[in-house]
Amino acid sequence: MNDNQALQLLKLLTDEESKKKAKELLQSLRSTMSCYQCALMEVETKFKVLNERFSLDHERNPIDMIKTRIKCAESIREKLQRKGLPLIPSSLEKLDDIAGIRVICSFVDDIYMLSDCLLQQDDIFLINKKDYIKNPKENGYRSLHLIVETPVFLESGKRMMRVEVQLRTIAMEFWASLEHRLRYKKNLSDEVNQLTLKELSECASDAAKLDVKMQKIRDLIESC
Ligand code: GTP
Ligand code: MG
Repeated sequence: MNDNQALQLLKLLTDEESKKKAKELLQSLRSTMSCYQCALMEVETKFKVLNERFSLDHERNPIDMIKTRIKCAESIREKLQRKGLPLIPSSLEKLDDIAGIRVICSFVDDIYMLSDCLLQQDDIFLINKKDYIKNPKENGYRSLHLIVETPVFLESGKRMMRVEVQLRTIAMEFWASLEHRLRYKKNLSDEVNQLTLKELSECASDAAKLDVKMQKIRDLIESC
């Protein structure tokens, strides 16, 4: 019996009460995931507004690019299992990064300026902050991570949703996306692991030096 046939048999053998429950569960899950999508749209708009307003006064954009994503079902399952949480819908509330937005900035000081401006807004509540720029990870990873909560206004009222915000420069993004591609889910030996860790950390520190240099050049041009 293939999956489709089994599903059909299950439908025939499921009583009305169970069907109703399954439908309600599906609707509630859809609603939750749609709320995450709405929260992402809200936060993305906030960054776009900040970018627009900043460019009025400074004639340059602090944001180079914005990427958003909703965690896929497989990654949600993997993370719940990794955290030892039961695979039930209410466990979703325990994850802070179902909705994620990455803001790629031109310069390091733009990161802190944008983060301060976002956190000043009265419908944004800071849940957690990790500054991997001031305290890079051992492999050299740098970025500013914020977990924020923001309201989404629905027909039925207000729902607070969590969003993970990652702010980084173009140089940090260059490093992080290549490091991810090189090392992600690869079973490297301890020796290769240690060697690449050191090499990658050096690359990250070179990229950080570039960020400082570029910021100095910008300051020089702006002071002229
Ligand atoms: P996750 O369980 O992976 O979400 O990590 P966490 O809950 O401990 O949170 P953390 O803030 O440390 O990292 C969250 C996210 O930042 C990851 O999902 C990645 O997108 C990014 N990140 C963190 N560390 C690294 C790294 O070493 N390399 C790369 N490329 N990305 C990283
Ligand atoms: Mg994550």
